[in-house]
Amino acid sequence: MPAFTLRVNGTPRTVDVDADTPLLWVLRDVLHLTGTKFGCGIAQCGACTVHLNGVATRACTTPISRVGERAVTTIEGLSPDGSHAVQRAWAEIDVPQCGYCQSGQVMAAAALLARTPKPTDADIDDAMVGNICRCGTYDRIRQAIHRAAGEG
Ligand code: FES
Ligand code: FES
Repeated sequence: MPAFTLRVNGTPRTVDVDADTPLLWVLRDVLHLTGTKFGCGIAQCGACTVHLNGVATRACTTPISRVGERAVTTIEGLSPDGSHAVQRAWAEIDVPQCGYCQSGQVMAAAALLARTPKPTDADIDDAMVGNICRCGTYDRIRQAIHRAAGEG
């Protein structure tokens, strides 16, 4: 099997997997970074959202061979101690219900705020529409994004 060297949460990691192995499988099963979740496997739910060079990306449909030099950031690497503004806002507003979708939600929200520090409700809708929450925490997610932007 070919070896691929990825930069994951700031650390080079070399993995021996087939070229078409999805990044999500590598993160969870090879590197044991299980904060990123498997939901649908077909880019429809957002549970597997990570950052590639800061861009929110579906890890379930990203083959390892297409990651290249881009920096991979997972929920474990978003901040060293859970102190990212989005994580603090999530805790203050107590956003999660079952929690399953939430690492993907947090990663999508963090990517949004990095490019749009003061998002409107429409910006939030555009950025978050692909992140499904079966528990229906959408109102708290919106509130927490505004809080993280310093507006809530
Ligand atoms: S598991 Fe990747 S989008 Fe659903
Ligand atoms: S908190 Fe349960 S799916 Fe979102």
